[in-house]
Amino acid sequence: MKTASLILASALANAVTATPLKWKDWKPLLSPFYFTSTYHVVATPDQVINGTTPTPGEPGAIGHYNYGINSDLDVICFNITLMGVTGGYQSPALTATHIHEAVAGASGPPRIAFPNPLPISDDPSVVRRSVGCLTGPFTTGVLANGTDTGVGFTVKEIEENPAGFFTDSHTARYIPGVVRGQLS
Ligand SMILES: *[C@@H]1O[C@H](CO)[C@@H](O)[C@H](O)[C@H]1NC(C)=O
Ligand SMILES: *[C@@H]1O[C@H](CO)[C@@H](O)[C@H](O)[C@H]1NC(C)=O
Ligand SMILES: *[C@@H]1O[C@H](CO)[C@@H](O)[C@H](O)[C@H]1NC(C)=O
Repeated sequence: MKTASLILASALANAVTATPLKWKDWKPLLSPFYFTSTYHVVATPDQVINGTTPTPGEPGAIGHYNYGINSDLDVICFNITLMGVTGGYQSPALTATHIHEAVAGASGPPRIAFPNPLPISDDPSVVRRSVGCLTGPFTTGVLANGTDTGVGFTVKEIEENPAGFFTDSHTARYIPGVVRGQLS
């Protein structure tokens, strides 16, 4: 116990520079899940755009796309829940669940492809979820001008302009998007 607390104290002493920190400030520094920003996006069918044309997704569907970013480590953690989304996913990308770069009302390339939310209830049409973390460099499987649209992208770009990004999922029946929401 004594050794452990000495090691902890010395680690903290090394981490702390001029200004002494209170315990409540130390905790996030020690956590492996420290985020520099978080996003809670409610994605709906009415926000889906094909090019610049509103193209509503599945009626009654809703998505809760929760993200935690650590831009120092280029990590993005996700907890995505879809409700009322039916049928299989479809996208030319590696997966059909993305963060794209575009402002509200516009379309843009995917920058990150997340594992698709999968059924977690007895009724597979009702609730689907995907939880985990991804670390850059990112690939989407979509080429623009011969280059993967994830290449060179870092999550810091989201923090610098969250309104310039949206998140969505695509199904076979709603290819432009089943639900969509802006990160800000
Ligand atoms: C989306 O737009 C493209 C190009 O204008 C068009 O070919 C396609 O049919 C549209 N898709 C839907 C589902 O509206
Ligand atoms: C993901 O979000 C759901 C809904 O808010 C929550 O019940 C669940 O505990 C979360 N999972 C994790 C691993 O945080
Ligand atoms: C592809 O190249 C064209 C011409 O240089 C450019 O206008 C366009 O923005 C590029 N597309 C992407 C997605 O980078």
